[in-house]
Amino acid sequence: MSADGFAKGPPPGARADWTIDQGWDRYTPAEHQVWMTLYERQRAMLDGRACEPFMKGLEALDLHRSGIPDFARINVELNRLTGWSVVAVPGLVPDEVFFDHLANRRFPAGQFIRRADELDYLREPDIFHDVFGHVPMLTDPVFADYMQAYGRGGQRAMQLGRLHNLARLYWYTVEFGLLQTPQGVRIYGAGIVSSRAESVFALDDPSPNRLGFNLERVMRTPYRIDDFQQVYFVVPSLQALLDATLQDFAPIYGRLKTAKDIPIDRIEPSDLVITRGDQGYAKARATAQ
Ligand SMILES: [Fe+2]
Repeated sequence: MSADGFAKGPPPGARADWTIDQGWDRYTPAEHQVWMTLYERQRAMLDGRACEPFMKGLEALDLHRSGIPDFARINVELNRLTGWSVVAVPGLVPDEVFFDHLANRRFPAGQFIRRADELDYLREPDIFHDVFGHVPMLTDPVFADYMQAYGRGGQRAMQLGRLHNLARLYWYTVEFGLLQTPQGVRIYGAGIVSSRAESVFALDDPSPNRLGFNLERVMRTPYRIDDFQQVYFVVPSLQALLDATLQDFAPIYGRLKTAKDIPIDRIEPSDLVITRGDQGYAKARATAQ
């Protein structure tokens, strides 16, 4: 997770790279119980919804064994599988710090967990979102390479002043991505798999558009952080996602300087339409406000 607008260095107690000790021994029984409740609730949603690499990763890391996962334990297996590790951070970190971690195959995860009376509300990403949502996909070798490529791309986008375009790629893939499989469309995005409501909405609701992934198109599409998505992008394979990211983005960024953003509910003639949404949910919400 990352955020803009950090003028100062790391908070007291954090290292220069913003990491902290996870302090696994200090979690209370109540905090472990929140993890177990969330885990069991979410795990029950995901058969036939989450993609196979996610489900395999969830099993490989054994994320339900001891309440909140101990990073020292899961990093042994994660490192063996793809060379990635999870590091604890106190909250959102500056973009350049975030990208540096990803480029070095480290995933910064929130150390804290949400309150038992706020299971469906997140002020900022907590350990359940970050570890349950993101880390299983990091056990997949292709996705693991994609995340590292994204981190390197972030460093470059900052130099070129195109971070807002690149952030949309993260949003519509790492957070809210869907994957085409022989069994149908499946979820791989962390924001979906860690959300009870969106893991249904993203696949089943008639409201959103579901469109074939196109990198440049995604970079022109704004997103909403306050509600369910109005459009999801479906990658044909994780390899295709990785391949798209290994090209030089500089020519794309050059075109994006003059290309207009595409309204969030628009379908372009060049889009591959997998599901044409009726935007019913979004319209109802707009009317209610
Ligand atoms: Fe996330």
